[in-house]
Amino acid sequence: MTKLRLAIVGAGPAGIYAADIILKAEKQFDVSIDLFDHLPAPYGLVRYGVAPDHPRIKGIINALREVLDRGDIRLFGNVHYGTDLTLADLKQHYNAVIFATGAVRDASLDIPGIDLPRSYGAAEFVNWYDGHPDFPREWPLDTSSVAVIGNGNVALDVARMLAKHADDLLTTEIPANVYSGLKASAVTDVHVFGRRGPAQVKFTPLELRELGELNDVDMVLYDEDFEVTDAASEAAIATNKQVMVINRVLNSWRTRSVGEASRRLHLHFWSRPLEVVGSPEAGVQALRYERTEPDGEGGVRGTGEIREVPVQAVYRAVGYFGSPLDGIPFDEHRGVIPNREGQVIDDNDQVVPGVFATGWIKRGPVGLIGHTKSDAMETISHVINGQADWWSPSHPSPESVVELLESRGVEYTDLSGWHNLDEAEKALGAPEGRERIKLVDRDDMLRAARGA
Ligand SMILES: Cc1cc2nc3c(=O)[nH]c(=O)nc-3n(C[C@H](O)[C@H](O)[C@H](O)COP(=O)(O)OP(=O)(O)OC[C@H]3O[C@@H](n4cnc5c(N)ncnc54)[C@H](O)[C@@H]3O)c2cc1C
Ligand SMILES: NC(=O)c1ccc[n+]([C@@H]2O[C@H](COP(=O)([O-])OP(=O)(O)OC[C@H]3O[C@@H](n4cnc5c(N)ncnc54)[C@H](OP(=O)(O)O)[C@@H]3O)[C@@H](O)[C@H]2O)c1
Repeated sequence: MTKLRLAIVGAGPAGIYAADIILKAEKQFDVSIDLFDHLPAPYGLVRYGVAPDHPRIKGIINALREVLDRGDIRLFGNVHYGTDLTLADLKQHYNAVIFATGAVRDASLDIPGIDLPRSYGAAEFVNWYDGHPDFPREWPLDTSSVAVIGNGNVALDVARMLAKHADDLLTTEIPANVYSGLKASAVTDVHVFGRRGPAQVKFTPLELRELGELNDVDMVLYDEDFEVTDAASEAAIATNKQVMVINRVLNSWRTRSVGEASRRLHLHFWSRPLEVVGSPEAGVQALRYERTEPDGEGGVRGTGEIREVPVQAVYRAVGYFGSPLDGIPFDEHRGVIPNREGQVIDDNDQVVPGVFATGWIKRGPVGLIGHTKSDAMETISHVINGQADWWSPSHPSPESVVELLESRGVEYTDLSGWHNLDEAEKALGAPEGRERIKLVDRDDMLRAARGA
């Protein structure tokens, strides 16, 4: 039987689903898969993006873990493609590679002042509260008013984590440094800005509703935002179930009394960010924005009315963005690997033999975890059908890549290492009745993986 030695780079949901799908479906070839990730723990954004107070979604990890535990995929954690392992190495050891490296950084927002001190990308804050090993342990929450730009689910995650009281997160997996950072928070007012209206938001009803259930947080809405409308918005509210529910929830909050709670979460619509106001010495002092109105085509135009809200920090949640990979074509504009249904294509629109992409690095940073499954199916069909283009590795034996990593002194972790780390985190949480407390420091993670 023909052998297919496949490397998958990125052990997030896209990489794990791709491995699962090909192993389950493929009968023509004898498939063996090595899954690499530069973090010592698998699961990508499910571990380092999904908010800690969303245990049901974090629970997807259990399904992903079952795939890894089946024993037919080799996991290599703490291996960085580009430094520890190159494209030339992969060509020597495998027939093909699938890149599933996701999108881990913030999209830029090109307005004056965006680089001032205390102007952050949502991903930076998410990485902090989700305990990503490569980000600072401290997060300054010593100011009272903050702005969040964007109307997607990440904006709501960030706003909720800023508004929520630390003690209400004590049942979750948040690491000790995150609990103490949030406990010391001086934030009282979180202002969320959407450049379009309530009928054009990208967030979903469940995530919105959750805001209204936060302990000791008042929702603040502004009547003027509900007076702006157009035919397209009315039609969306009348016909689109999701928009209808969102509209109903928002309207129900307009009649709530405000003033009891110690914290407030303000939702502003029809407000386009113009400038983060401040100075390099003082940092952020305000967000300047322009009121907008519908342009009749689903977009907005400025009304010319400029306002400012005094805030001392700004978080932009305007989308994530992929990162280029050594030796692999990259679309700088979209932040993805250019591809045709998962087959990577070069500048001349030609398929690059043996190189495939799946997940957010293929499609861009939009969509839920489940969407990475259908993505993977499409990519896998091209891996299988593209046999004629597979590489012919000079070192195809499974041991030779291990020897390569060892010869380079790469301290890789494997599946049993992940089990050790997982157990260590659970043991940390047990005395407090929590399912786990995350280890944050990479060396601590590696020590735990070694069973130390
Ligand atoms: C803040 C946030 C919250 C979210 N919450 C939800 C939610 O509640 N529900 C939901 O359904 N979806 C949610 N999503 C969307 C979901 O996370 C994505 O759909 C999904 O994670 C994309 O999967 P992926 O495997 O393509 O990328 P990722 O999950 O990002 O995985 C990519 C993996 O590649 C690895 N990698 C990257 N570069 C390299 C390299 N050079 N070498 C080796 N490894 C590398 C990374 O370490 C990572 O493990 C959320 C997204 C964000 C940003
Ligand atoms: N709980 C969950 O299920 C969950 C949690 C987090 C993330 N996710 C998913 O992960 C994906 C990514 O989420 P996301 O929130 O990063 O992206 P998103 O859904 O694309 O939302 C991005 C938001 O940023 C706004 N924006 C973009 N550029 C802007 C600009 N220049 N000025 C002002 N606003 C701007 C967009 O407004 P416009 O619409 O006007 O462009 C939109 O409101 C989504 O599919 C999301 O559903 C899911």
